[in-house]
Amino acid sequence: MSLQQHVIQSFKELFGEPPAYVVRAPGRVNLIGEHTDYNDGFVLPMAIDRAVWIALRPRPDDTVRVHSLDLDRSATFLLADLRYEDAGWSEYVKGVAWALQGAGYRLAGWEGVLAGDVPRGAGLSSSAALELATARAFQVVSGFDWDPPSMARLGQKAENQWVGMNCGIMDQMISAAGEAGHALLIDCRSLETTSVALPPGTVAVILDTATRRGLVDSAYNERRTQCEAAARHFGVPALRDVTMERFEAEAGGLDDVTFRRARHVISENARTLAAADAMARGDAAAMGRLMDASHVSMRDDFEISGPALNTMVECAHEASGCYGARMTGGGFAGCAVALVATDRANAFAETVAASYEAATGLTPAIYISRATEGASVVEQP
Ligand code: GLA
Repeated sequence: MSLQQHVIQSFKELFGEPPAYVVRAPGRVNLIGEHTDYNDGFVLPMAIDRAVWIALRPRPDDTVRVHSLDLDRSATFLLADLRYEDAGWSEYVKGVAWALQGAGYRLAGWEGVLAGDVPRGAGLSSSAALELATARAFQVVSGFDWDPPSMARLGQKAENQWVGMNCGIMDQMISAAGEAGHALLIDCRSLETTSVALPPGTVAVILDTATRRGLVDSAYNERRTQCEAAARHFGVPALRDVTMERFEAEAGGLDDVTFRRARHVISENARTLAAADAMARGDAAAMGRLMDASHVSMRDDFEISGPALNTMVECAHEASGCYGARMTGGGFAGCAVALVATDRANAFAETVAASYEAATGLTPAIYISRATEGASVVEQP
């Protein structure tokens, strides 16, 4: 049974009638452009065919009631009385309500069931998918216009200020604005997007190392602080404003760590723009080389990779059909992504699964993913 059927079926069992609406919002895989979003830079993610789904109906009052099928837990809250209770997944739902209301949206109540297949903590943005699915649920019952960048900003605000994770804008933006069959080059300063298809004859393969991040918020925040210090050194609002030429000319005086953090961000921005060009030209080999260089930069300069991710990337390189591979997402654990020849993808997945397992003793999950559209209201069968 698809997740769509699952939420519809479960809704009927719980409420005795079909849902009024079904909404979904996807997770994402970032092809290139890592830790550039909070430096006002460029990212190149695609929305994947794994998502959070909600089947719902409006309520006549201001109550929101959601049942998570994955966790078998329910949450109920009043829109007029939102309180942070450290209640895990439902804080994302509440936080989005809080952010929308804070921005002046008049919200109606609703009730429904929720399920998702974006693995949690894997670096595929299950949180952003939950935030944007929630925003879509409020939009469809409350009847306001859906503007993807505004919704992304409010999802990010919920995560930053309600949940307390200091993420950038990439995950919410791609979950809100993704386009089927395309990755999006996102300018994280203006939120302007350009859609680019993968080079013909290639697919993105997601390689989940089966490792999960532990306490990474502190490492993430530390990287942000280091980037801000580097921007101050150059006297600019964000590292986005420093070219490689200027960096090389004026980096003297930066300590070794800050130097390498800045070099990653500045070179990654350039690689991301070059990758979008390579994709637009259909140049898989060039795209692959940029992904490889991105991995090296994250491993050595930004220091956010780890043994499992490095092993996975090496396994991908050794398998036939691979144009390039890199760790993806926040780092330290979770997933890598590879650009692979479509006609080799199945064999590639099998080879990499076997060699990774032999090297680490861990059983990876491998997804050959197509690019899907962003948060949407789904036609019911
Ligand atoms: C996490 C954050 C994003 C981004 C990436 C790194 O996914 O949520 O905003 O900073 O890490 O590129």
